[in-house]
Amino acid sequence: MSASEKKRNAAEAALQFIEPGMTVGVGTGSTVSFLIEMLPGIRDKIDHVVSSSKASTALLQENGFEVSTLNETGDYDIYIDGADESNKRLQLIKGGGGALTREKVLAAAARRFVCIVDDTKLVGMLGNFPLPIEVLPMAQGLVSRRMLKMRGQPIWREGFVTDNGNHILDVHDLQISNPLEMEARINRIPGVITVGLFADRPADILLIGGEDGGVREMRV
Ligand code: A5P
Repeated sequence: MSASEKKRNAAEAALQFIEPGMTVGVGTGSTVSFLIEMLPGIRDKIDHVVSSSKASTALLQENGFEVSTLNETGDYDIYIDGADESNKRLQLIKGGGGALTREKVLAAAARRFVCIVDDTKLVGMLGNFPLPIEVLPMAQGLVSRRMLKMRGQPIWREGFVTDNGNHILDVHDLQISNPLEMEARINRIPGVITVGLFADRPADILLIGGEDGGVREMRV
């Protein structure tokens, strides 16, 4: 079974968590794109949608949705998004697509966070996937040096500008044995907008598309 098929299956399994009258937060990436294409089928159940990126907003609009802002909706019902890695505690690395800041804001405001992945994303320890950090452009050097001190290898994502006008550092070679501690530590570096570690606000439910076509559900 291809990675795309597994992602599609995980996205489809997330639909069962959307109940009538809900406001739905929509993440970013190829897995979520499958979800967005399925949302018109349950249009009647959805009161409002909020989006984590310009790309997802455009796709939602193409599928007939008017996109609300988080300031309009306030805290809301359910956020559905992919991830680059998840551990068994549903702590995540996100930001492979560069949308981590708005994703983190939407995850924080959601009463429930459902994460949809294929089975290659479940890992024992986070950090094999380079950790994305959104940084203020003028602080790129400072944040890079701090990450070198933490034994990471920061690589600037060349030519990439986030929806918020910032840069991304992808930090390689980190062994993230304590995600909560590392998230807090990186958050304290001046110039860091967002670190793509979702440990303080992990997912509540992980839906994993598997090789056999089934979808496994994990909760913390
Ligand atoms: C976007 O910034 C990321 O956090 C995505 O959620 C993550 O990269 C997953 O992407 P795919 O669904 O494309 O694998």
